[in-house]
Amino acid sequence: MLKKKFSCVKVNQQKDGVTWVIFNRPEKRNAMSPTFHAEMMEIMTALETDPDTKLVIITGEGTAYSAGQDLKEYFRETDGNPAAKAAASANSRWRNEKLWMYNKPTISMVNGFCIGGAFTHCLCADFSIAANEAVFSLSEVNWGILPGGMVSKLVSDAFRPRDAMFYACTGRTFTGKEAAAMGMVNLSVPKKNLRRETLKLAKELLEKNPNVLRGTKHAIRATQDMTWRAAADYLNAKGAEIKQRDQARGHDAYAEGIRQFIDEKAYRPVFSPYVGAADGKTTEKGGKPRASAARKKKAPARKKK
Ligand code: COA
Repeated sequence: MLKKKFSCVKVNQQKDGVTWVIFNRPEKRNAMSPTFHAEMMEIMTALETDPDTKLVIITGEGTAYSAGQDLKEYFRETDGNPAAKAAASANSRWRNEKLWMYNKPTISMVNGFCIGGAFTHCLCADFSIAANEAVFSLSEVNWGILPGGMVSKLVSDAFRPRDAMFYACTGRTFTGKEAAAMGMVNLSVPKKNLRRETLKLAKELLEKNPNVLRGTKHAIRATQDMTWRAAADYLNAKGAEIKQRDQARGHDAYAEGIRQFIDEKAYRPVFSPYVGAADGKTTEKGGKPRASAARKKKAPARKKK
């Protein structure tokens, strides 16, 4: 449990393992100052090993998700002070390098303005859900720089080439709905449903085996820029790592998943994870699997022929 209080960020931890990280400079539209970055680096580092945190949701307080880098505090006030600039830049890596291969699932909940440098954490979180009404813009071209902080790279990887060029060179705004159609976010929903839909996805992810989920998200990230041969080796090694991590908690997802499906006919992997995936509690061999009402609702028990 993270007990410390921060000046630019709020951290709210739910009992089920969901931790909310809320950008808290609404009066500055959650623009990212050097202090904000230092706090975010500290928070994200701490949560990665915090036993009470299984999944992180990042979002903004007020009308903005984030208005990008703070033009005054991050840029102008560090000009001519290389040490301060370097420190701010190093701390701002929570958005790209840290989030990109984070050890726990992350969801970016885009509640309002998502501008410039904020594209980085929106795209580097594993999942993003936006309000239909959210407003996105690569505003850099309008005030004098190119989209740095890996934004150009992330946008050209995620968008269709024509969209990347168009929005980077015009700075035109687009809505959450358009962001979903372009693949910038997974989905967009009316703002009134944003929290509910985000928690629904969080709950679904929390039902998975965390070691399998971690290995899977790392595999999707890391193989993007690998050769075929390197990817094959990486995936083999990652599979072995999952087994080892599971073994440490006295579990074997692979054996358990197959056994419950083939021998016990207890669940169907197409509709839900096997029983006990999340907590690593293995059912008795040959015994009756524990049934959960939720799982039953999703996929009715298989009939024995
Ligand atoms: N850096 C520093 N301050 C910022 C900021 C930023 N990126 N974005 C907003 N603010 C500050 C404003 O200076 C203003 O502060 P003040 O009350 O002390 O004058 C306050 O936040 C509110 O801004 P305002 O423009 O009045 O809010 P709005 O709701 O009408 O508009 C935006 C919101 C995001 C559309 C507008 O503030 C904007 O264009 N911001 C710049 C965003 C940007 O270009 N970011 C790219 C950084 S890479």
